[in-house]
Amino acid sequence: MNVIDAIQTRKSVRKYSDKPIENEKLTAVLEAGRLAPSASNRQEWRFLIVRDLATRKKLVDAANRQTFVGEAPAVIVACAETDGHIMRGGLPCFPIDVAIALDHITLTAVEVGLGTCWIGAFDEREVKEILGIPKEIRVVALMPIGYPSDPSAVEKRRLPFNEIVRYEHW
Ligand SMILES: Cc1cc2nc3c(=O)[nH]c(=O)nc-3n(C[C@H](O)[C@H](O)[C@H](O)COP(=O)(O)O)c2cc1C
Repeated sequence: MNVIDAIQTRKSVRKYSDKPIENEKLTAVLEAGRLAPSASNRQEWRFLIVRDLATRKKLVDAANRQTFVGEAPAVIVACAETDGHIMRGGLPCFPIDVAIALDHITLTAVEVGLGTCWIGAFDEREVKEILGIPKEIRVVALMPIGYPSDPSAVEKRRLPFNEIVRYEHW
């Protein structure tokens, strides 16, 4: 599978089969995250993998009661061990860097037959308490991962190209 195929195939998966994820596949997707670019090569991402069912159920409560978060066989808790560096443009780099790594993860997941879903609706304090994550670590996103129970394609609802791309002047 090439990159554009993976981009076109990726969709948010909110229904997962019970089939467990092979360790090699999970390692392959996390390795794709490890290889992501980051500001000044800071590599502030840290990935906590939750497979324990009871812990996954607790994460549902911390994730706005989104039940599918607990139904996937694993949840990647994407964190940042960050010094809070602000780039010259005024933005913190850690959420951007972690997001790039997660995007590598979502696309590699597609390549190995797995599905993922970004979860931004969660209570960081609760997630940290459940997982024993230290105070100074930030939680950027949760990402359930597993075999989709419905692998069929869905049409992407996106703005038209001409609405989002401008050339030379705003
Ligand atoms: C930063 C971010 C946070 C998101 N948070 C959630 C979430 O909490 N729950 C959810 O079901 N989907 C969440 N999504 C998924 C989006 O709804 C989804 O990507 C978008 O509707 C496009 O659909 P697609 O991923 O199938 O192409 C999130 C996506 C991103 C990028």
